[in-house]
Order: sequence, then structure tokens, then C-alpha cells
Amino acid sequence: MTSQKTQQSTESAQSPENNARRSLLNGLWLILSGLALAEIAWLIVSFLRPLKSKVSSGQHAAIIDAGPADRFIPNTVTAFPRGRFYLACLEDGGFLALSRRCTHLGCTVPWDPGKAQFACPCHASVFDIRGDVIQSPAPRALDRFIVSIENNRVIVDTSRPIQRSAFHKEQVVYK
Ligand code: FES
Repeated sequence: MTSQKTQQSTESAQSPENNARRSLLNGLWLILSGLALAEIAWLIVSFLRPLKSKVSSGQHAAIIDAGPADRFIPNTVTAFPRGRFYLACLEDGGFLALSRRCTHLGCTVPWDPGKAQFACPCHASVFDIRGDVIQSPAPRALDRFIVSIENNRVIVDTSRPIQRSAFHKEQVVYK
């Protein structure tokens, strides 16, 4: 009797219906495993892709070619929104790249050509063309970026703002 039952259960386990069900479950398992692997691969690619596009698209490129040095008139400020900086061409023709971020709480500071100064709209700090504080609450001069002149072109490295307490002559770059 017992051996008859065992034979029946073995037969039912190997029935075409059970085999079909097992094949279906195996197929589903393979599909779900494939989807999980694809998702992991997509996450890895998404994580890496922004770094690549920032470098290649130029939208957030760190090195900005501001143009020919001769193009800039002394005692003027030119905004470079793409690089988020101002290029100040000082009275003696020297160049200084200034961050647009106020050193008080980080508001964007617009240049006022009429008054020849940067005036922060948030808490009324004022900076001169060299980025020095004329009026607080800003605690220090506007950050600056490294400037170099290459083949008579002004190149600004915006990868790292340089903090400074005040303007110094050594910060200016000449052609
Ligand atoms: S953020 Fe510019 S003065 Fe406060």
C-alpha cells in the first residue's frame, strides 16, 4: 500500500502539468534575475555617467576660455554665467577672476557698472572691482579663481574657488 502511494506521488510529481509548471517557474526566475542584473548595471552606469558628461559637455567644464586678452577693457567686469565667475580687468590691465558667491551667505552678487561695485541683494554687502569688502556683513573678499594667459587668451580654472581675506597684488595676472 505504502509503495503504491509512493509510486503515485512520484508519478504525479513527474506529470506533464508539473513539468510545465516547473519550466514556467524556471523561466520566470531567469527573467527576474536578468531584470535585477540589468537594474544593477543601470545604477552603476547612472552613477558614473554624470562625471563623464560634466567633463565632455562643457556645461560645467572647469577650464573656461574667456577669450582674447586684448578684448577686455581696463576697469571693466565681464560676467561668465557658464563658469559662474566674473572676470575683472583692472585699471592697469591685470586680470582677476572672482566668484559670484557672496562670502556672507552665498547669494549671487551682481556687478553694478554704474557704481563700479558688486552689491549683494541679500544683506547689502558691497565689494569693489577687486572683490574687497567695502561694506559688511560679508566677512572677507570674494573668492577668486586661478587665471592664466595662454597664447594671448585668458584661461580661468573654475574647479576650485580660492578663499582670501583681502585683495593682494600677487593675485593679479598680466599678459
Ligand atoms: S549673502 Fe550677501 S550680504 Fe548676506
